[in-house]
Amino acid sequence: MSSPLRLGIAGLGTVGIGVVRNVRQKAQLLAARSGRSIEISAVSARTRDKDRGVSIASYDWEDDPVTLATRDDVDVFVELMGGSDGPAKAATEAAIAAGKHVVTANKAMLALHGHDLALASEAAGVALRFEAAVAGGIPVVKALTEGLAANEITRVMGVMNGTCNYILTRMQSSGLPYDDVFEEANQLGYLEADPSLDVGGIDAGHKLSLLASIAFGTQVDFGGVALEGIEKVTIDDIRQADDMGYRIKLLGVARMTARGLEQRMSPCLVPKKSPLGQLDGGTNMVVLEGDEAEQIVLRGPGAGMGPTASAVMADVIDIARGFRVSTFGRPATSLEAASPASTATAVPYYLRMALHDKPGALAKVATVLGDAGVSIDRMRQYRHKDATAPVLIVTHKTAPAALEDALAAMSRLEVLASAPVALRIESV
Ligand code: HSE
Repeated sequence: MSSPLRLGIAGLGTVGIGVVRNVRQKAQLLAARSGRSIEISAVSARTRDKDRGVSIASYDWEDDPVTLATRDDVDVFVELMGGSDGPAKAATEAAIAAGKHVVTANKAMLALHGHDLALASEAAGVALRFEAAVAGGIPVVKALTEGLAANEITRVMGVMNGTCNYILTRMQSSGLPYDDVFEEANQLGYLEADPSLDVGGIDAGHKLSLLASIAFGTQVDFGGVALEGIEKVTIDDIRQADDMGYRIKLLGVARMTARGLEQRMSPCLVPKKSPLGQLDGGTNMVVLEGDEAEQIVLRGPGAGMGPTASAVMADVIDIARGFRVSTFGRPATSLEAASPASTATAVPYYLRMALHDKPGALAKVATVLGDAGVSIDRMRQYRHKDATAPVLIVTHKTAPAALEDALAAMSRLEVLASAPVALRIESV
């Protein structure tokens, strides 16, 4: 058997400890599958003396992750600290410069610096892999870079933030408003230290930008993701979307269009009987569409110790096996700069508004929509409450410019009690 593959692990939170456990408890399995044993040389974390439920006493300790990353007895630097810059980036760069392979779960670092890091790793002849950065235990990076390598990818979609999916499905099942369910999620410890990473769509946007790079051969462009969080989704939206046959999801959608690369992370309606519509709780789902394979749906845990460690170790095992694949599925030097689409693809929209109880109010709304070229597919008015009535409209496919014209004209109508809500409906 070949010499052992030696790891240096920086970051001993949930994922880091999951990796330590996997290496300790599955040593034989890992060696059998890799053709060589996998060992840990040294570890690093913010605090040394802490009960982590697994002993790290047999590994060397480093206070500084850069020192860890560049040790002679480290072949693979496993970066599990998080943070787009700071120590994680410094140690990753140092590892690459020292000729070490890198495995990371750090979506923020890759979304902002992935292209430069991929260029550096290729120039140094080392691997930079990130299966655990996107959708936890779901092997979606492998699916795109390997399993679907012979396809033109037409669309990538995903629910890739379990916290947001928990909040939206809990609102649906309990009838509780957003603020109450947000607080529940907080009590359960589901939210990131900075909750806007979750509910603002940033974490999921990072993941989408990484998948889009692989899918469409472009340099990672997180700045090109049109981001909208779930904070404005109301319990009324959830109920009324349900009534029209839809669920609301924080959905990432990436597609290459004649207008450029479109990347959106926003609350969208999906048919409630579709796989995405049926995705409940903290689970993730990624839908990959290719011209040969058609539609592939991957569902699984997007976070947690076992699932994320599983993804980290899949990359480690590839390195142990000597299997090499470019970070974003093709040489980084060949990735083109992304050209963001200036406008979004036309889709049907869900419009919710409250109308004053005045003769001709509904007719005025319909006229404004028609004048802007927005065609109504379905419409429903609920009973008046407090002298206003909720009205829901599902449009046919509508170009965003037409919708904007219609919304601007509506805001000038005196029949609306509040600004209308517009959400995209994504076909699945
Ligand atoms: N906070 C993320 C989620 C997990 O809720 O899915 C890490 O990206």
